[in-house]
Amino acid sequence: MERILVYRARQLSQAHLSPLGRRWRHVQAVAGRSIELSTGLPMAQRRLLVAAAWLHDIGYSSDLVRTGLHSLDGAVFCRAQGFPDTVVSLVAYHSGAEVEADERGLLGGLRAWETPPTELLDRLTAADFTTGPDGRSVTVRDRVSEILSRYGPDHPVYRAVCRSGPLLITRVEQTQNTLLRRERAIVAGFTRRAS
Ligand SMILES: [Fe+2]
Repeated sequence: MERILVYRARQLSQAHLSPLGRRWRHVQAVAGRSIELSTGLPMAQRRLLVAAAWLHDIGYSSDLVRTGLHSLDGAVFCRAQGFPDTVVSLVAYHSGAEVEADERGLLGGLRAWETPPTELLDRLTAADFTTGPDGRSVTVRDRVSEILSRYGPDHPVYRAVCRSGPLLITRVEQTQNTLLRRERAIVAGFTRRAS
């Protein structure tokens, strides 16, 4: 399963999301960004993270919509497809899903699902929130502003991001800074050994 995990995730994502155009471009870019943000993880965890990145928005596919909470609908699909628990839980909880679940009256339903490892969840959320809706790289602050501009004030996504946005910005910037420090330490180690 592990070897074909990312391949299966990509194939299913393409099958369900490529008709959505812009959403598919976003998901492809998030998958690429997740590879960049997988620095320092063991290979098995990298595969879980990248597979979840391919699948994180699959719940937007019209044939998979059940509750309207795309993270939960996507997780239901991923479990039915036999993906590992970590992938399923990453899809369920990515990018502040708990707050949106609360806004939709689905928090109890979401919390019935196991929570993912924080380090992987933070990296997936960072990949999602530094990628714009058309796949371009953006800052997390611009991403939050863009989401708020796309939905009306009465929409549950708008209300959720109003509540979760400040914490998401903090967590994403912390994740980026932590990974940057680790990369710099690795480069410094190589430089010392080479000199
Ligand atoms: Fe996304």
